[in-house]
Amino acid sequence: MRIAVCPGSYDPITNGHVNIIERSARLFDKIIVLVSVNTSKQTLFSVEERAELVCLATRHIPNVEVDAFSGLLSEYARSKHAMALVKGLRATSDFEYEFQMAQINKSLNPKLETLLINSDARYTYISSSVMKELARMGGAFHDFVPKEVEKRLLERLAEQEGPPAQKGVVHLARTG
Ligand code: PNS
Repeated sequence: MRIAVCPGSYDPITNGHVNIIERSARLFDKIIVLVSVNTSKQTLFSVEERAELVCLATRHIPNVEVDAFSGLLSEYARSKHAMALVKGLRATSDFEYEFQMAQINKSLNPKLETLLINSDARYTYISSSVMKELARMGGAFHDFVPKEVEKRLLERLAEQEGPPAQKGVVHLARTG
């Protein structure tokens, strides 16, 4: 069985991620979408929440499993007999980091290939961070995330920060 892992922070999953997972699922028998537990980034959603949203967003793809991990990706892939890691590449700016990771993972697990799949043109400029920023600022982001993610993102930000920022002029006090 040809197994591949699609790793990421998924904080939260976007339609760009879903598109990469759908396309990977046509290339492999099984895709494990792996949610990173100890990401170096401060996350908005817990690992359980991120994994739940990934499950909801990928439930239409039959050969997808969702898991969470902490530790080395190369070791996880070995333990699951995965032959490849699949990552989306949005722009050349992603390339340097992904190329470095691919080389490191190959040196740690020589049987492991990394496939960098170009993002669909609709999603080249979106990321989880940009979605969070748009949600915070009251911008439209519903075209770029699954419905459930839109709802949960707005709920979480409202819990943390109150309603989205109002458009308008900020009046600064004059000093001096
Ligand atoms: O969605 P992201 O934030 O780009 O995902 C990054 C992730 C989770 C894929 C990356 O941080 C990762 O591979 N972490 C696992 C640790 C590891 O194996 N690192 C490579 C050797 S230093």
